[in-house]
Amino acid sequence: MKIGIISRGHALYSTRRIAEAGRRRNHVVRILDPHRMVIGVEDDGVVSYHDGLRLQGFDVIIPRIGVSTTEYGLAILRQFELNNSAVVNSSTSIRNSRDKFHAIQLMAAAGVGVPKTLYTQNGMAVRGMAERLGGTPVVLKFNQGTQGTGVIICDSEPALQSTAQALWSLDQNFTLQEFIKESEGEDIRMIVIGGEVVGSMRRTAAAGDFRSNLHRGGTSELFEPPQEYIDMALKAVATLGLDIAGVDILESDRGPLILEVNSSPGLNGIETTTRKDLAEKLIIFAEGLVS
Ligand SMILES: Nc1ncnc2c1ncn2[C@@H]1O[C@H](COP(=O)(O)OP(=O)(O)O)[C@@H](O)[C@H]1O
Ligand SMILES: [Mg+2]
Repeated sequence: MKIGIISRGHALYSTRRIAEAGRRRNHVVRILDPHRMVIGVEDDGVVSYHDGLRLQGFDVIIPRIGVSTTEYGLAILRQFELNNSAVVNSSTSIRNSRDKFHAIQLMAAAGVGVPKTLYTQNGMAVRGMAERLGGTPVVLKFNQGTQGTGVIICDSEPALQSTAQALWSLDQNFTLQEFIKESEGEDIRMIVIGGEVVGSMRRTAAAGDFRSNLHRGGTSELFEPPQEYIDMALKAVATLGLDIAGVDILESDRGPLILEVNSSPGLNGIETTTRKDLAEKLIIFAEGLVS
């Protein structure tokens, strides 16, 4: 088959691994860099160009759309959907998960456990919000952050109020979340492909940080998830409609809670930790969409 990977670079670990796995399994693989593309609608329909050349005949598209190009990346993905390419993560499912509060809304409505989360643009309301969340510290999150960069811990009411004010003055929206103390600096990352958990790890934050993202210097170890975690991750991913996802779980005193679901999870940490070829699993899943 002919596979297109929408990605900013063939040098990125996950992109490179997926491309290699595809070629190893005798597929034609092309990396489609959004910055080198033009898409549109012309006389003969919905068209896409890469370096000026028309793109056609892709059986499967694997989107690896970064947070910085979500809107444009999704527009590109929709072009392929309209031309009947199979996609590993639909544009709708990526949109569901990319907006963190939207994802929390959908998961909560489906009965998936999530941390208490509040969202407002009302500056006056902030005063009572920490209390609703069980008091400070509370976690403040950009709706579209990633790799831990849009996650702030506020230890006191004045810190919360001044941070909220500063962010609003920059037109930056955010949600407030209860801080799950008992799991401070630790979370579980599970990778789901095609309705199956294919790898799990426990991540531990670098000393002095509460964020366990590997991009923030966190470390990881193999984790054998209990059935409850597996069921929960699968339900969350199905609710958002994703084919491949990275699910972040916090272990709270009242059970596991889903923090977020990533539609383009990094493969580096999880492949190293689990010693599994997850890129190949992804390609095998993609083959199943076409045959
Ligand atoms: N409510 C919370 N309580 C405790 N720790 C949290 C909470 N929210 C986030 N964290 C920590 O911060 C990290 C990043 O948060 P996350 O919501 O996954 O954002 P990102 O998309 O930037 O990874 C998590 O992996 C976790 O270690
Ligand atoms: Mg995360």
